[in-house]
Amino acid sequence: MRAYIAGIGSYAPDKVLTNADLEKIVDTSDEWITSRSGIKERRIAAENQAASDLALIATERALKSAGIKAKDLGAIIVGTATPDMPFPSTACLIQKQIGAPHVMAFDISAGCTGFLYALGVAEIFIKGGYDNILVIGADILSKFTDYTDRTTCVLFGDGAGALIVKKGDGTRGILSSHFASDGSSWQLLHQPAGGSRMPASIETVEKRLHVIRMQGNEVFKLAVRAMSDAAVKTLRAANVSPSEVKLLIPHQANIRIIEASAKRLHMPMDKVLVNLDRYGNTSTASIPLALDEAVKTGRIDRGDIVLMIAFGAGFTWGGVLFEY
Ligand code: COA
Repeated sequence: MRAYIAGIGSYAPDKVLTNADLEKIVDTSDEWITSRSGIKERRIAAENQAASDLALIATERALKSAGIKAKDLGAIIVGTATPDMPFPSTACLIQKQIGAPHVMAFDISAGCTGFLYALGVAEIFIKGGYDNILVIGADILSKFTDYTDRTTCVLFGDGAGALIVKKGDGTRGILSSHFASDGSSWQLLHQPAGGSRMPASIETVEKRLHVIRMQGNEVFKLAVRAMSDAAVKTLRAANVSPSEVKLLIPHQANIRIIEASAKRLHMPMDKVLVNLDRYGNTSTASIPLALDEAVKTGRIDRGDIVLMIAFGAGFTWGGVLFEY
């Protein structure tokens, strides 16, 4: 018995922030951003939109694509680094909004790997007897981005994606997964204030401590190593070779991280989905946004083998291999 993807939906806000727009805000250039990251534009949530608002639209699309109703759901798991509020969970807000039954609903915090972690947890629950699990990745990093810091503000965008994961009895579904973490370098990517270590105060606001702090070049090196490691271990667990993979869907953080990871796997770039040029790094939304695009544009079909790999704050990393 395997957990398989029965439906998918995604949503990105309408507002587009281009590299040319950023040139007017910080000392940067389209040439620098494009050559160093591959990003051309990103979507930015409206002032009144929170993570659950984006997730709600993605969820409605996923339910429709799976042909089920909210009342059929067996659990709700949301991967997010930017929940509507510290508590209650964004998953509970979604449960109310869609009118799902009183099912288990919770968030997972694993940085940009949150969506894959959520999918891994859903698979375990499916094997334990649950069915029709709503798995969401939703993030609004723009609300935690310092638009005076050119080293980070050019990278991030907003979005959401949702899957309906079902119990199947055929061959399709999740073939293997691998998840890992290493907290020893957490300072390289974090949001200093707003938690119990440094609660909000006038000082934390004045010192801009409620935004993403990152040492990009250090994160870069760790990301390439972790994404490659996730790919190799996930493939090995299913005894599948890279050549059998129809499409690699990596977390969309930086084109150079993606290219280096694909190279280590000896996978040509035409087998890799890249959409970060249009969305930037949308954290947990990046993989479901890309997966939805792969399905809609016909880059994958039922029966194809797909490898998803991610890396995020923590640090966390992981991979999920599945037959679509
Ligand atoms: N525009 C112009 N110049 C910029 C700039 C910008 N937006 N951001 C940084 N620079 C400058 C730096 O100040 C530095 O200048 P200096 O040499 O005079 O000191 C120079 O560009 C090189 O900076 P560096 O940080 O070494 O560049 P890089 O090649 O490592 O690229 C990132 C920077 C952030 C694009 C890259 O490190 C990266 O993508 N890292 C991973 C980030 C990530 O994915 N995080 C999320 C993980 S889920």
